[in-house]
Amino acid sequence: MININQIIEQKLKVILKDLGYDEEPQILISSRPDLGEFQYNGVMGIAKTIKANPLFIAEKICFELEKDNSFVNINIAGPGFINISLNSNYLIELINQSEEQLNLNKTIFLDYGGANVAKSLHVGHLRSANIGEALKRLAIRLGYKTISDAHLGDWGRPMGLIILEIKNRYPHLSYFEEDNETDDLDLTNQDLEEIYPYASNRAKEDDDYLNAAKEITMQLQNGHSGYLRLWNKIINVSKTSIKKIYDELNTTFDLFEGESDSQKYIELLMEHLKSKDLVKESDGALIIELEESDDNAPMPPLLLKKTDGAILYATTELATIYSRIKNYQPDEIWYIVDNRQSLHFKQVFRAVSKSQMAPQTKLEFLGFGTMNNEEGKPFKTRDGNVMTLESLLNLVTVETEKRLNQEIKDNRQSIARSLAIATIKYADLLPNRSTDYVFDPQKFSELEGKTAPYLLYSVIRIKSLIKKGLDQNMQIKLITNLEQETAKAVALTLIKKGLVLEQAFKEKSLNEITNYLYELASIYNRFYQECPILIERDESLKTSWFSLSNKVLETMTELLNILAIDIPEKM
Ligand code: ARG
Repeated sequence: MININQIIEQKLKVILKDLGYDEEPQILISSRPDLGEFQYNGVMGIAKTIKANPLFIAEKICFELEKDNSFVNINIAGPGFINISLNSNYLIELINQSEEQLNLNKTIFLDYGGANVAKSLHVGHLRSANIGEALKRLAIRLGYKTISDAHLGDWGRPMGLIILEIKNRYPHLSYFEEDNETDDLDLTNQDLEEIYPYASNRAKEDDDYLNAAKEITMQLQNGHSGYLRLWNKIINVSKTSIKKIYDELNTTFDLFEGESDSQKYIELLMEHLKSKDLVKESDGALIIELEESDDNAPMPPLLLKKTDGAILYATTELATIYSRIKNYQPDEIWYIVDNRQSLHFKQVFRAVSKSQMAPQTKLEFLGFGTMNNEEGKPFKTRDGNVMTLESLLNLVTVETEKRLNQEIKDNRQSIARSLAIATIKYADLLPNRSTDYVFDPQKFSELEGKTAPYLLYSVIRIKSLIKKGLDQNMQIKLITNLEQETAKAVALTLIKKGLVLEQAFKEKSLNEITNYLYELASIYNRFYQECPILIERDESLKTSWFSLSNKVLETMTELLNILAIDIPEKM
């Protein structure tokens, strides 16, 4: 993939070396496009080191740069900032290069999604799915191998609560009798969505109820056969409905495992931890002490087993890492999880490092911020409950539908819904991963500005232009002409893609890509206004513009695909 900044940096490095400056130059995209397309601000640093006049050094560098006919308009601003622009012919050469698929021998394991069985997905899970899926696709695009897993919440107290509530309501079911294996319960996801909140609320007020749920949770974890059968039933019903939502969000997983899948590694994990002398007893519970003398924030011990023998979130987390290392030996494991779980991951990672469980694997917590409503508070429904994904989708579908072309009559609702998903995804990937942001359903559904509808509308328009052209027997060929200022600006934006992808990967945040897509669409739309392609008389210019448009279409399609955003046929 072309990384234009790197290309210029390499050329400049040779020049600096010849001049006797041992520097790793850094080229930036210019913040003053009126002065040049790229800038080099390193001269002042060199001048300081060798105690010379920066202007004098800058002039020497420019003199050498002039000799390279890839560049034009080389000039010095202020005390020694060097501005550089690309020669159109060189840009044409770059833009016509075809791209190779990269292949790195590195595997990244991504943990995202994280839905909880028997509970509705909420907006927090949405962010994990959106960011995780896009990061996975980005890694693949950059040549990494990936393995993705949803790590469903399916083994903790909520399971005990649901089983308890079913037991209270239907005590005579086979699951609560010994040696009876009939399947005598009809269970739907709607049932679960009613049962869980009921049980969870009751446990908050009723200690006996809570204790009964704890007891069941522990028995389940220890392999109680009836509870396990019922649990399996709950899991299957719930997983089907969770999968359906992930499908709609274009989120796919190689593995669809849960906390429960780590149960078979708990013993092995405990043995390993004991062999490293890490397991301590504290008031009947088993813990790992994590504190170190140079900690500058409190580091509470990790709780492995409670007094009643039940295991916890951190225990299944560790056992899951143990199994992932054993089964897949990934080079890295990425956790795309809410920022509010950062302490949990700090503890878990510390325990992993103390136990030397994953010496070859880099563990990374990629926390994300909260999606808030207009008042800056986490999204809630009108009755004060956490907003489910489904209600958010409905809310946004109303907005996107209003803005759909009136002539669209068939499938109007389903187009509006898929546009709503695109709208949410784009808005969700627009801020930096780790910051909280305000989701405004109206603003993000507009056909103008940094929104999915604006981008998708632009793509659909280019698509229809290409189709019209091809129908008129036009051909997609090499780009030969960038004389028009906006055509050159489009090309220049196009070749920044490699840098954008690398930057996004480095930051593990998609905001570079979402912003770049907007930049590309905007500059293309200006070009489209100024250069009416289909009526251009000069055939060779017309073909070049047409081919440039096709490059833009290819690039936008590729990037939207990385973001897992679908392009509708019409809107
Ligand atoms: N189920 C968890 C939750 O809803 C998220 C799981 C995140 N992944 C992990 N490996 N802990 O909070």
